[in-house]
Parts: sequence; C-alpha cells; structure tokens
Amino acid sequence: MTQKIKKIGVLTSGGDSPGMNAAIRSVVRTCAFHNIECIGIYRGYQGMIEGDFKEMGPRSVNNIINKGGTILKSARSAEFRTPEGRKKAHENLVKANIDALVVIGGDGTFTGGLLFNSEYNFPVMGIPGTIDNDIFGTSYTLGYDTALNTVVEVIDKIRDTASSHNRLFFVEVMGRDAGHIALNAGIGAGAEEILIPEADLGLDRLLESLKKSKASGKSSSIVVIAEGDKIGKNVFELKDYVEANLPEYDVRVSVLGHMQRGGAPSCFDRVLASRLGVKAVESLLDGVSNFMVGLSNDKVNLTPLAQAIKGKSEIDKELLRVSDIITT
Ligand code: F6P
Repeated sequence: MTQKIKKIGVLTSGGDSPGMNAAIRSVVRTCAFHNIECIGIYRGYQGMIEGDFKEMGPRSVNNIINKGGTILKSARSAEFRTPEGRKKAHENLVKANIDALVVIGGDGTFTGGLLFNSEYNFPVMGIPGTIDNDIFGTSYTLGYDTALNTVVEVIDKIRDTASSHNRLFFVEVMGRDAGHIALNAGIGAGAEEILIPEADLGLDRLLESLKKSKASGKSSSIVVIAEGDKIGKNVFELKDYVEANLPEYDVRVSVLGHMQRGGAPSCFDRVLASRLGVKAVESLLDGVSNFMVGLSNDKVNLTPLAQAIKGKSEIDKELLRVSDIITT
C-alpha cells in the first residue's frame, strides 16, 4: 500500500441509519490496524465547519457495533452548501492535518463530498448509509436490512388488529423517493397491495384490487404505501377516498415514521458496515478516492461518487409480480 495518507477523518451525515456505528468502528479500527490516525468529526459537515473533532482509537469504539443511530451524531448542514462554509471546513481539516475523509450517508452526503473534492482536491470515500436503499452502485445500504425487519415486525402486530376487527390498514413506510422498503417489507409482511413511487398502481386499480380481495373471502387487508408514492393522495386522503368508494371497508392508517430508522442493527448490517469500513480506508491508503464502497453480488465494489449520485437505484420489478401472485 502507498501510505501517503496519515490521518483520516470520518463523519456521518444526513438521516441516521442502523449500522452507521458499526461502520465508524470499522473505519477507526482499520486506521489503527494500518497505523493511521483517525479523527471523528461530529454532526457531519456542520462539525467540519465548526472544527468539532475528536481523536479516535480502537477503544473509543468499544461496544457500539450493536447500537443504532450514530455516536458521531448527524446533521443536514445548510452552511456546507455555501462556498464560505466549505472554505471554513477545509481550513479546519488542514489545521488538524486531516488528509482524507470517509463520509457515511446518502445522496446528499456524497454530493457534498464530491463538491468538496472538486474545490479542494481533498480525497473522499463514501459509505452508503440510509434505510431507503436508494443509492446506485450497491445492492444494500447500511440500515436497510434492519429497517425491513423493523417494518415487518410492526406490520405483523398491526395484522393482529386488522384481523380481529376485520379492518383495512394503510401502513405508510419511509422512502422519500424509493419504494425498496415498501416493496420488500410489503412482501415479507404479506401485504395485499404495495404502493411505491416506481410503479403507479392508480386509484382505480387499488379499488378493484380491494373489491377482489373482499370478494375472495379476505376479512382484513394490509396495504403498504411508500411515503414517496405518487398515487396523488396522501395516506389519510386515501383512507377517505377508499371509505367513500368502498363503504364495506373500515379503514385505519398507521404512519410508521422514525421508528424505522432506530434500533440495533441486524447482523447483516453489522457485517456489511464492517466490510465497507475496511474497504473505504484501504482504498484511500491505496490512493483511490472519490468512490463509494458498496456491495454487489456479495462482493465489495467501488462506484465513482458521481455515478452513485446520478445513477438510479432500480427496484426489482419482478417483485411486484411476485407480490401480485402470492396475494391472490
Ligand atoms: O433518507 C432517509 C429518510 O428516512 C427518508 O425515508 C425520509 O423521508 C427522511 O429520511 C426523513 O428525514 P428527517 O428525519 O429529516 O425527517
């Protein structure tokens, strides 16, 4: 390895996700393994602007592999979007002798990192951390698997009430622009319909499907809706619409919200975070930068940050067909 880099800064930015701590731990310990210093940067890019840094060694990340959230805290920094903010951040990094950055987060985090690199030629490596799983170049982002398990567990509980009261539940799950959580958790929880931004089910087809469901003898139903769905009505309007058109249905709404982002990471997310952390640091030490580390066909891979930002993470359309078949 060509070890020109002596000190790496690590930060988490944007929405937190389970597995971020496991990734921080991996980055810190990989640095220690290669005799590189590691600096934790608090509150994402905002902490970079404010010089909120802390030296981290292998023992500062004890007992965090199992913790949700991020010990480095997270923020969406408006100031970093300004040239003045990025200048301050750069000055602080230079002052602290930080040579490279590992940024853990989603699209916005990578966009900030890439811009910073283009202005200051500062080596940046990204680790995808978001429950939405909406990043091009990796099959999995940190926290997605945990969020899926959380959502399935909660819908299982909601199903108890749905079934006891013969009700229809609309369950809204996270996914601002993507339906990965809705689609996979929907199938895992046996939802009758799944509404996602990538496939426009349409109001008429939804009503048809619910009618068919009743006629087939089902007494209760679960419809999972991604928050970014584009059916044209929010989940509460949808409830009113269905009740107005299908009075035989007693409808309730459950918006799962931020509970989906919390909790102990699954084993999958812990292992993923550990693998990606090692690869991020070792890539920087090899002189590679401006890439995102990810997972494809169970192999750790690298995707240029620019592509990770621009590319679209597609949903697997076959899953929609599977869902249709198994809810007959
Ligand atoms: O990007 C992850 C995400 O959880 C989205 O699914 C959701 O729309 C958003 O973050 C919520 O962000 P905030 O916590 O800032 O309200």
